[in-house]
Amino acid sequence: MTDSLEALRGEVLERIQQANSVKELEQLRVEALGRSGSLTLLLRGLKDLPAEERPRMGERLNQLRRELELELDGHLATVNQEAKAKALAEEKIDITLPGTRFERGHSHPLTLVIDEIVEIFSTMGFEIARGPDIEDDDHNFEALNIPKDHPARDMQDTFFVAGGNLLRTHTSPVQIRTMESRKPPLQVIVPGAVYRHDDDATHSPMFHQVEGFMVDSNIAFSDLKGVLTHVLRQIFHRDAGVRFRPSFFPFTEPSAEIDIQCVICGGGGTLRNGQVCRVCKASGWLEILGAGMIDPAVFKFVGYDPEEFTGFAFGMGVERIAMLKYGIDDIRLFFQNDLRFLRQFN
Ligand code: DAH
Repeated sequence: MTDSLEALRGEVLERIQQANSVKELEQLRVEALGRSGSLTLLLRGLKDLPAEERPRMGERLNQLRRELELELDGHLATVNQEAKAKALAEEKIDITLPGTRFERGHSHPLTLVIDEIVEIFSTMGFEIARGPDIEDDDHNFEALNIPKDHPARDMQDTFFVAGGNLLRTHTSPVQIRTMESRKPPLQVIVPGAVYRHDDDATHSPMFHQVEGFMVDSNIAFSDLKGVLTHVLRQIFHRDAGVRFRPSFFPFTEPSAEIDIQCVICGGGGTLRNGQVCRVCKASGWLEILGAGMIDPAVFKFVGYDPEEFTGFAFGMGVERIAMLKYGIDDIRLFFQNDLRFLRQFN
């Protein structure tokens, strides 16, 4: 028995030394010390020994079990450590590799244009006001000097909503709301969405305007002319021609429509290839703004004395400006959210 014990010891110790994986060592542990392992078999043989030899032999077998367990654990730790060191050496991080780029969102082209317009007016001291998209008849029409039977209502293609209200057809009602709650001097712009029952390549049922007005004790048409000429040249081109044409709006008197020299053909009416410019219809001019001196009737509606105060007002369409700036020929592109379109404004 002593011989087989020594033989087992020698064999197992040697196999432990040779093992170089966790798996091999666990296998070895089962084979040597497991329930039907070699050492267990030896222990079972104890009962065949003479009674006086059993305690001594039992003691030696237990010693061997402890020794082998220690060896196995020790070698296991070594193998684990080596595996870790190897992994660390192999899994080097190349810090010169470029990182994973996340796709970043960006502003919608209409937001870009609104931001630009707001910035231009802000530098001139205009503040921003906003109003509700759902308006009442008084603010959208009546107070702007558009009574119920006025033909100008026809042009506004109004969406009515339940309860007698409507979706504002222009940002002009915010003029009324601001003047109702405050006193001059006022220098305000109103960017916002407006709604009209109209839908084709140049009209959208929802679009955006920037309204603006300036009211004080001594505002003249020349102020209107100076401010708007400056703004249009900032938006389009430093030297762009700007012209004022007489027009009519119920809420301004006198009224004007303001044109800018065509940004596509440069004002000549023909393109470089000799074709007529379709954007300005060969006229060389693009209508870009409605404006005028605020009508005394509007001042009366908001409780201002027209003898004490004068002011100018204007309204511009954001989509039209964006289309001209970026050469976009279909307004619907702004609202289809086609990423191939939107990504061009990154
Ligand atoms: N509210 C007009 C429209 O939507 C635009 C406009 C024209 C606004 C002249 C004004 C203005 O303030 O003075 O058609």
